[in-house]
Amino acid sequence: MGLVTLREILADTREKHYAVGGFNMNSYEDSEGMVMGAARKHSPIIIMTSMACVKYVGLKQLVGMIRGMADTYNIPVCLHLDHATDIDLIKACVGAGYTSVMIDASKKEFEENIAITKSIVDFAHTYGCSVEAELGKLGGREENVVVSDSEKAYTNPEDVPRFVEETGIDALAVAIGTAHGFYKAEPKIDFERLDAITKKTTCPLVLHGGTGVPEEDFRRCVKMGMSKINVGTQLKKDYTDALRKALKENPETEYDPRPFMRPVKEACAQAIMAKIDIFGSENMA
Ligand code: 13P
Repeated sequence: MGLVTLREILADTREKHYAVGGFNMNSYEDSEGMVMGAARKHSPIIIMTSMACVKYVGLKQLVGMIRGMADTYNIPVCLHLDHATDIDLIKACVGAGYTSVMIDASKKEFEENIAITKSIVDFAHTYGCSVEAELGKLGGREENVVVSDSEKAYTNPEDVPRFVEETGIDALAVAIGTAHGFYKAEPKIDFERLDAITKKTTCPLVLHGGTGVPEEDFRRCVKMGMSKINVGTQLKKDYTDALRKALKENPETEYDPRPFMRPVKEACAQAIMAKIDIFGSENMA
């Protein structure tokens, strides 16, 4: 089926009350497991790479590999660059065949965030690539992007219409109480704020910091109109837990890497299938 854009993959999410999972990958095994899990559920999926992941795996390798998976499993797959602050890298990803990029200018002042985001939209759209941007500042660490507790700020619903209209973005990441990484205490989602934001725009909304969010909070967000939900840290843990277990269980004389890596794929597939059940994207491919 090839890769699809973020705009296409999220097109009927609000109307049909489901969200598509955006999952952070780091290697061949986890990404293959994720697409495999989505295919078992006949669900669309967004495979996300951080800037560090692009540097680790390689740009052309990523595009070729994920496109190959989309063709093989025949479900809608969007290849998305997550939380990018490096304009040159964004342009390289767009040129190489990414179908979505996130420009994260959320640390800038409102007017500057609009100007930077709009310039990326103007560039990416000429290639048929979608753009996600963030309004407000989500706390925590996402690879190289760190936002301290004193810096974080919720999305102001009043800012949303102007931001969406002037930038022309395809999806909007909102700060409503979640954070990146493991939570020290259970997150408190500001549902009133989410309600106010959904009333201000029809632009698909994105919830970041999905690791550790309680199932009922996810369901409520989706019901209220959340279109994309990002999960990263939990998958890193599932990956390494599965690998550690496989190394422990196999004899020390085993040198073929595949018996160690196959359980990693399966662990990632299982994690994605569980999230698809919660996000409601089964049979939406
Ligand atoms: P977590 O690592 O907290 O799941 O967040 C992922 C994310 O939002 C990526 O953009």
